[in-house]
Amino acid sequence: MSISLDSLDIHRPQRYATQGFPWAEWDLLRREAPVFWYERDDVEPFWAVTRYDDVMTISGNPEVFINGGPRLRLALKGEPELLRGGLDEFGKSRGWDPQEPPDMVFMDNPRHRHVRKASSWAFTQGCMRGLMAHFDDLSSTFAEEFIAELEAGHAQGQAYDFVHGFAAKLPLAAVGEIMELPGEDWKRILIWSEAMIGEVPPEHILPGESVTQAAERSMNEFRTYLEVMVQAHRVEGGGPSEFINRMVDAEIQGEPMNDQQLIGYLFLLIGAGNDTTRNATAGGLAALLEHPEQCELLCAQPDLLPGAVNEILRWTSPVISFLRTATRDFDLSGTLIKKGETVCVFYPSANRDEAHFEDPYRFDIQRTPNDYLTFGYGAHFCIGTNLARAELTSMIKALIPILPRLELAGGATRIANTHVSGYSQLPVRLRAAEQSAVA
Ligand code: HEM
Repeated sequence: MSISLDSLDIHRPQRYATQGFPWAEWDLLRREAPVFWYERDDVEPFWAVTRYDDVMTISGNPEVFINGGPRLRLALKGEPELLRGGLDEFGKSRGWDPQEPPDMVFMDNPRHRHVRKASSWAFTQGCMRGLMAHFDDLSSTFAEEFIAELEAGHAQGQAYDFVHGFAAKLPLAAVGEIMELPGEDWKRILIWSEAMIGEVPPEHILPGESVTQAAERSMNEFRTYLEVMVQAHRVEGGGPSEFINRMVDAEIQGEPMNDQQLIGYLFLLIGAGNDTTRNATAGGLAALLEHPEQCELLCAQPDLLPGAVNEILRWTSPVISFLRTATRDFDLSGTLIKKGETVCVFYPSANRDEAHFEDPYRFDIQRTPNDYLTFGYGAHFCIGTNLARAELTSMIKALIPILPRLELAGGATRIANTHVSGYSQLPVRLRAAEQSAVA
């Protein structure tokens, strides 16, 4: 089917679920209209920015293109922006400040810089080095559990979902470890964090509830949980989590954070790391299995792992888009962006920009250089970059011994979301040749 600038669709969540990322549409935009005024009936217009250099320019000029404007996520007209939150019934019942941004992503400098500092100490490369052995142990256990499930169902030809059976486990455990949250709570936290992107497992939807209502309820449960957690750490001498104690004690421009600010902060840190890393892992497995020569290369030379992790991050690009608002007129590569207008950067498109990456549609674990924009750039550059890389490294390392035994089983499902996307389910099974090995 031919596509045209007038009709192409890069903004409907459902499109991402049914057809995956709009690669052909982004290719056309990069080629013919890299800064494109995107107007459709069901969305407020915005500038679609698809080239690598332009995404860098926008992200590198946070005083011109701010996060604290009216729009930060693509949303269809009339749809509530689940992530923005604002003052819903939960916030009103607690007398929260309606002017307070939900979290640091919605903030600009100077406040943003100070708020970011309150937790960035926990995500340095040094901290990750200290956690790596533990991540490796956890990943090995999760891989053993997954392969045991596959082996148990193999005789019946059963497939298992890699997303929930493996990929979702470490991101949750890791952030739980860093924040020192009780292990028995992680299962609940996973369900809550899925609700943040509108994914609610059917068994968690109450009779008469829509998915949106179930997601809202889940998020309120999550915030109540965090509220109890924060209050337990406000007591004299602190609570059991050193991380939360430090957050409670942190001062932002001379002031400690109140419950609203702390709950928003923890909510962000837990949510931002789960879905993104899980989607990179699931997309990474799919990429390796779809490119057997790269998979064989990695299995034969595991020292290529760091390059493989980087290429998986470029290839999967789980964060799709972010909106920014222009604070003044700005010439973006020859197109005038007017003050007050919205720009939308598309990271996966930047990561396939042929002007920046040689043969960008080649999945190449030895690609070098590989300076992808998967974690953004500039003031809001992902705070969890080191953590995400450490997790992904550890998970792929644990998979290497079993990769030759796996194959995709078809029937993958994708998330209907224009902000963070990827696989919601990725069925995997043992190869047919495994029959005798398992028997
Ligand atoms: C593969 C996994 C991940 C990807 C693809 C990803 C991607 C991103 C992107 C694109 C941004 C926005 C950058 C920008 O505006 O320039 C971001 C911000 C952020 N990420 Fe990640 N992220 C991942 C993992 C994590 C993890 C594990 C954490 C856990 C702490 C995390 C926490 C955050 C936070 C708190 C921000 C907001 C930073 C700010 O506004 O200053 N992310 N991430």
